[in-house]
Amino acid sequence: MNVYLGIDVGTSGTKVLAIRADGTILASGVGEYPCYAPRPLWSEQNPEDWRKAVVETVPKVLAKAGVKGSDVRGIGLSGQMHGSVFLDADNNVIRPAILWNDQRTAKECAEIEDAAGGRGKLIEMVANPAMTGFTAPKIIWLRNNEPENFERVAKVLLPKDEIRRWLTGEFATEVSDASGTLLLDVAGRKWSKPLLSALQLDESILPTVYESEEITGRLTQEAADALGLTTDCFVVGGAGDCAAGAVGNGIVRAGSLSTSLGTSGVAFVHSDELRVDKLGRVHTFCHAVRGKWHMMGVTLSAAGSLQWFRNALCQELREKADAQGDDVYDLLTAEAAQTPVGADGLFFLPYLSGERTPHADPYARGSFVGLTLAHDRGRITRSILEGVCYSLREAIDIFRGLGVPIDEIRASGGGAKSPFWRQIQADVFGSKVTTLNSEEGPAFGVALLAAVGGGEYKNIEEACDATIKRVSELDPNPEAQKKYDAAFPVYQKLYRSLKEDFRAIADLA
Ligand code: XUL
Repeated sequence: MNVYLGIDVGTSGTKVLAIRADGTILASGVGEYPCYAPRPLWSEQNPEDWRKAVVETVPKVLAKAGVKGSDVRGIGLSGQMHGSVFLDADNNVIRPAILWNDQRTAKECAEIEDAAGGRGKLIEMVANPAMTGFTAPKIIWLRNNEPENFERVAKVLLPKDEIRRWLTGEFATEVSDASGTLLLDVAGRKWSKPLLSALQLDESILPTVYESEEITGRLTQEAADALGLTTDCFVVGGAGDCAAGAVGNGIVRAGSLSTSLGTSGVAFVHSDELRVDKLGRVHTFCHAVRGKWHMMGVTLSAAGSLQWFRNALCQELREKADAQGDDVYDLLTAEAAQTPVGADGLFFLPYLSGERTPHADPYARGSFVGLTLAHDRGRITRSILEGVCYSLREAIDIFRGLGVPIDEIRASGGGAKSPFWRQIQADVFGSKVTTLNSEEGPAFGVALLAAVGGGEYKNIEEACDATIKRVSELDPNPEAQKKYDAAFPVYQKLYRSLKEDFRAIADLA
């Protein structure tokens, strides 16, 4: 039996998934670890925690799947994007990794745009403007703030590529994740020499770039022994978690868009051609499909907004849910479903950790606007679900404006489990929203890429066609859609009205 593993190095944990070559899921498991916020707006993790999670979880998943280590032909790697693992010449981790949701680099983003000759020039070089979460600003931050650490840097790796280094001994990455470093010439699918030179960074600190289904190495004896696998097992390029999740949703051809509601929310659309938003509001990255691209918009707190509300303000309901054996999210969404479309004029801006798309603004703050005495918990919950969908609609409208074809929206992630939240997506986006048989996310996408690397399929399109099917469809409700169309411009205006106040609030804190 040929088995392929997908390993997704996420922010809350690492997921390991075993599949058969025909896409059948055999078993999965998650190893969790903490995330540290040593200062406001900082977000860090210890790469060693990721490695331990892999070492603990792979053998458990193999045992659960009932497969022998020698059955595992290949591994696909996915992971949280943009994180920076700084290694010295002996491959020691120099300091904790700085993560995608860290907002410390506003100054460095401005410095990078200046060095490139302006925002427009930077977008010409790497298809994207500087964003606080991206990797390049973190490297410059290290140079500006921890020069003694910067002096020691021999390599900078993305989270999944640090795991690859441990697995195979190779310094390698692939085009989709490399795009999120801000150092890739996204059009040419190679490191951008002009930008590296403008930033006075040496290309030797970066790993070799592959396409996603290409084999980047095989397991070292040490890794094979630790995981119960063999040194024949290969590791393909894989993909950043957004592209990997999209592959897992079959977003590999023009016309398809996926939304994913996890901690962050992502609207991801396939594009056969390179299309770039000259205003830099959405990202253009290489896709995990060879020779193709994608555009995406990221709202930093999506299901994370609902989680914040549950944790901060719904203790009593949590206790009730626990006592009844219910899921507190089901109780919250059931209450919200009893309330009117538009939450009686209450708007929620989901900027709990600043924002990325379309307002790259680390100073933006979460807000409720329009509260009255009539607003109860159900209405507040509804406003959160609606606010997250409005935020993703901003990205979707930008894609539509750039002429990207969108025929179908496929919903995924924890937030897509709620039919009520999916209906709000259909009504706010004004589009059919479908769900799929595969709910395993990025780990499934990269396990499929490993199967392509192993020659089981001609390409990733064929692999998706053979394994991914639609299981549900929701059409927009015309009346709700009309109400949301009327409310959306008000939502959009609120950020513009509050922008300066957010900055003043940040200065007070
Ligand atoms: C994508 C992004 C997040 C992380 C989360 O640009 O920053 O989705 O990849 O894991």
